[in-house]
Amino acid sequence: MSLRSIILHPDPRLKTVCRPVGGIDDPLRRLADDMLETMYDAPGIGLAAPQVGQMVRLLVMDCVKDKDTAPQPMVLVNPEITWTSEEPNVYEEGCLSIPDHYAEVTRPAEVRVRWTGLDGRAREEQFDGLWATCVQHEIDHLNGRLFIDHISPVRRGMITRKMEKLKRDRARQSAPAL
Ligand code: NI
Repeated sequence: MSLRSIILHPDPRLKTVCRPVGGIDDPLRRLADDMLETMYDAPGIGLAAPQVGQMVRLLVMDCVKDKDTAPQPMVLVNPEITWTSEEPNVYEEGCLSIPDHYAEVTRPAEVRVRWTGLDGRAREEQFDGLWATCVQHEIDHLNGRLFIDHISPVRRGMITRKMEKLKRDRARQSAPAL
């Protein structure tokens, strides 16, 4: 396993609709392992393939926050939302591609999701609480949507400008001195 670098907003790859995974093979399993390792290392509770530059419909998540509870890593291939509750839930979201920025996002409180597991089997599960928020946030990534696309354009513009500056500063720091 190895860590992959996480792409920061703004980047055209984070605005792209990802293609379905065609088949489950060793490179895909390796990508899923690397994504889990990268997510835990960050640390984060979810990561989508486009955030590491792989434009396929794959996400990983583990919303167990309590350190006394066993980790529950999940890998979802080609996930699809099949049902959403009418009842909404508001959660202050962040994103590994937009570090240090948070905003309240309203989404359905519960969702049903169908996906393919790494074993090739079809699965369907209902998620609530933080898991529901997380899986919707990650599926958004596969459709080129970020949590800031759910907030006001003014606030989104502010965050984007700060991220542009952060990326310029980082690029300058890593540029070779002449
Ligand atoms: Ni995210």
